[in-house]
Amino acid sequence: MQVSISSLLLIMSCGLFGPFVEPLTIVEKELIESNRFPDDFLFGAATAAFQIEGAWKEDGKGPSIWDQAVHEHPEIVDDRSNADVGPNSYHLFEKDIIALKDTGVNFYRFSISWSRIFPDGDVSSLNANGIKYYNILIDKLIENGIEPMVTMYHYDLPQNLQYLGGLTNPKIIDYFKEYANILFLHFGDRVKRWITFNEPFDFCTEGYGDGIAAPLVRTPGVGEYYCIDNVIKSHAATYYLYQKDYKGRFDGTIGITLSSRFFYSLTNDTDLVDRAMQYQLGWITHPIFSSSGGYPPVMIEDIASNSVREGRPWSRLPYMTHAQKNYIRGTADFFGLNYYTSRFVKAAGKPQGHNPSWEHDSNMEYDVDPKWKRAKSKWLYSVPQGLRDLLRWIRDEYNNPEVIITENGWSDNGEVEDVDRIEYLRDHLRQILLAIKEDSCNVQGYAVWSIIDNFEWLRGYTEKFGLFRVDVDSSDKERVPKRSANFYRRVIETGEVPQQ
Ligand code: BGC
Repeated sequence: MQVSISSLLLIMSCGLFGPFVEPLTIVEKELIESNRFPDDFLFGAATAAFQIEGAWKEDGKGPSIWDQAVHEHPEIVDDRSNADVGPNSYHLFEKDIIALKDTGVNFYRFSISWSRIFPDGDVSSLNANGIKYYNILIDKLIENGIEPMVTMYHYDLPQNLQYLGGLTNPKIIDYFKEYANILFLHFGDRVKRWITFNEPFDFCTEGYGDGIAAPLVRTPGVGEYYCIDNVIKSHAATYYLYQKDYKGRFDGTIGITLSSRFFYSLTNDTDLVDRAMQYQLGWITHPIFSSSGGYPPVMIEDIASNSVREGRPWSRLPYMTHAQKNYIRGTADFFGLNYYTSRFVKAAGKPQGHNPSWEHDSNMEYDVDPKWKRAKSKWLYSVPQGLRDLLRWIRDEYNNPEVIITENGWSDNGEVEDVDRIEYLRDHLRQILLAIKEDSCNVQGYAVWSIIDNFEWLRGYTEKFGLFRVDVDSSDKERVPKRSANFYRRVIETGEVPQQ
């Protein structure tokens, strides 16, 4: 017999009033309990500096590659907007804190703008105003009982470093370490969870592969591989820096945030699913989280043989020595995961993408199920089951690491009655519960993207992800709670996912 959780709850509450109700069986109790997150589960919300701060050249801040890209090429943004002011969180961060407090989150994941700390990219330009701003933000969060979780890099490289080749120049490893050092030094006493990079796959393929996003460098098949290589090494160097100079004093943790879809095959081709996973997530996580280290073998083999065929003397995928593999392996205390959607995958019938490129090397075609509901964003289909399957894949592939879901969200036109967002969040939260309870996946936290409507990169202000509405054209930029903010508050208050 199927017993719904709501009827069980009814039975339980009726039980207080009469002798007519039979005691719950163990299975029924478990069913009820399985709708509840563990007591120490962390709920949060996320943003990124460039998308919310505005004040793009105030108080000493230097330009980032995104400032540069949207100013020089307004045509790349759908509504030709920019983030010069946006929700203006640099000045209005207290309104964000009120919104966060309103939903009752345990943590706030925000990013630090590198060019607000080092306007010219390196420590010679250290900006005291930048340090002051984040100090105040961190203090106010803590005063309000909200744990700060800091992303060091969320797409916005100082433009000066881009003039030196940006993330494709190996020297970036030293620059990043120097930047991280200043963050640890000034904020490490209060920030206990650090994320080095947000979504390297996305900013390397789009920024240096096909060049559609900042810094608009089009070097497909080469630039994205150098970028990832340098990012992974910067991450590892930062991890060791923290262990050596700060861990003893501050006892924080260091992770990295990766974006991934889960892939399905209509023909149950598990090799193909694995190939798709390795080419997207594994590219960055195999070196850091696998027991053997290094890039996924499938990528090493394909890209080496493609490179030979192209007449190149070396592989476009940088070579990692045994020592480098060992150095990078294990350099994360937690696995930050951004999950939005999934895809069907099939082997490509004809060569994909530009030759060479990541698309060409991976050689796969992707599809969606027409039954999947689509958000305002063209790429965003709701596939909650994909999150559970992805969590299981991570569990099996990387020995069940601690996972924090650092982003998950839904886009629309900004309506306050955002019932589709509620449905999306509810369905995904349920899958996380199942992953924890049924699959023993080590998921410790979850952050909604995003607490407020903000600048959605190439989509400008045409797609909204916030739990709070912000009209960026208004003078006060009030943060207005949407229905989903109330929904999320209820989830956090009760630790349960409401049935409706
Ligand atoms: C990024 C966010 C972005 C969101 C929605 C994530 O990939 O980290 O910056 O706004 O997706 O597109």
